[in-house]
Order: sequence, then C-alpha cells, then structure tokens
Amino acid sequence: MAHAPISNFRVGAALLAKSGQIYTGCNIENATLGLTCCAERTAIFKAVSEGERGFDAIAVVADTDTLTPPCGACRQIIWEFCGDVPVVLANLEGKVVKETSLGLLPRPFDSSFL
Ligand code: THU
Repeated sequence: MAHAPISNFRVGAALLAKSGQIYTGCNIENATLGLTCCAERTAIFKAVSEGERGFDAIAVVADTDTLTPPCGACRQIIWEFCGDVPVVLANLEGKVVKETSLGLLPRPFDSSFL
C-alpha cells in the first residue's frame, strides 16, 4: 500500500497492540518530502487514533537485501508509544533480525524528563 512516488522505496510496518489487534502501516510520501510519514508512524498513528494504548512489538519490512531500520523520528515515536519492545526487521526473502526499541534509541528523551 506504500505511496512512494518520489523514492520508490516501499516500506510496510505491522504493530501488535496489547489488545491482540495488528495495525499495518505504509510509507506515505509528499512532494515536500519533510511531510512524508514513514510506515512505522502510520501504523502507530492508526492504532492510537483507534484508541489503542500499549503495544507489544513492531515489524518493519522492505524489499531490500539489507534490512531497513526505523529512522530517528520513528525511533522516538516507537519509544514514546511502545516503550522497550521488540523491533523486527525483515525483507521479502524471509530474512529477519530482532532488535529492541531501546537498543535502537539508547538513553531516549520522553515525558519523564518534563
Ligand atoms: N521509510 C519508512 O517508511 N520507514 C523506515 O524505516 C525508513 C524509511 C520511508 C520514508 C520514505 O518514504 C522512504 O522510506 C525513503 O526514505
């Protein structure tokens, strides 16, 4: 479902909520580039907008040999909404690596500092 006419780099995400529901997301690009929303944030914002709070894991998938990790903005959003959860990176050939959100974003800033 990716809308990636600018980069042609298509990314998918799947977010497992504590309710058991899985929310999917794709990257949605914009001609101004900075307004692009990554697949991870799309999935999280979809879930939060449906009332979900609390998540157990998130997966990121792209059709690449080298697995695609979340960008810095998504790492922050994953941390704030999911805490320290498994972040599963995968490609379409079945290559899978499991990271964690805290491993990807050490010493994160969040509302506990406010
Ligand atoms: N992108 C994602 O959706 N998730 C990532 O983890 C990395 C990058 C998207 C944003 C943009 O549409 C395209 O990939 C190229 O950066």
